[in-house]
Amino acid sequence: MLRRYFVNSLLSSGIVATAAAIFYPILKFVIPPASAESAVMSVSAGRPDDVQPNSGTIFKFGGEPGILIRTTGGELRAFSARCTHLNCTVQYDPSAQQIICACHGGEFDLNGKNVAGPPPKPLTPYSVNVRGDEIVVSRV
Ligand code: FES
Repeated sequence: MLRRYFVNSLLSSGIVATAAAIFYPILKFVIPPASAESAVMSVSAGRPDDVQPNSGTIFKFGGEPGILIRTTGGELRAFSARCTHLNCTVQYDPSAQQIICACHGGEFDLNGKNVAGPPPKPLTPYSVNVRGDEIVVSRV
């Protein structure tokens, strides 16, 4: 009697474990995770002194990378740093004064417009405001 109980318990737990291994990934795929990151409307991207003319820096905008650029004229500009081709993170190239994507050679001008390579669309622009000793980047 004890042996039968043991074998039944072993088989039942195996069936339950197999069902969980099958249905858990399906449920995680069907039900998207709650994301508060898309609700982020503005972030601090550092201090004005941190970004020198003709340079760029990557900052975190919620769960996405952003790129903050100070032009040679001293103007601050910010964009999503996700390349519009296949989502690689772009970077600033001071020698060409362009935003480039190293993955497939995509190039964007300082207005975020795609000018060369495979990216099909411009980078998403953000608005930039200096408030006191802080650079605040917001969704447009
Ligand atoms: S991902 Fe940027 S050019 Fe392909």
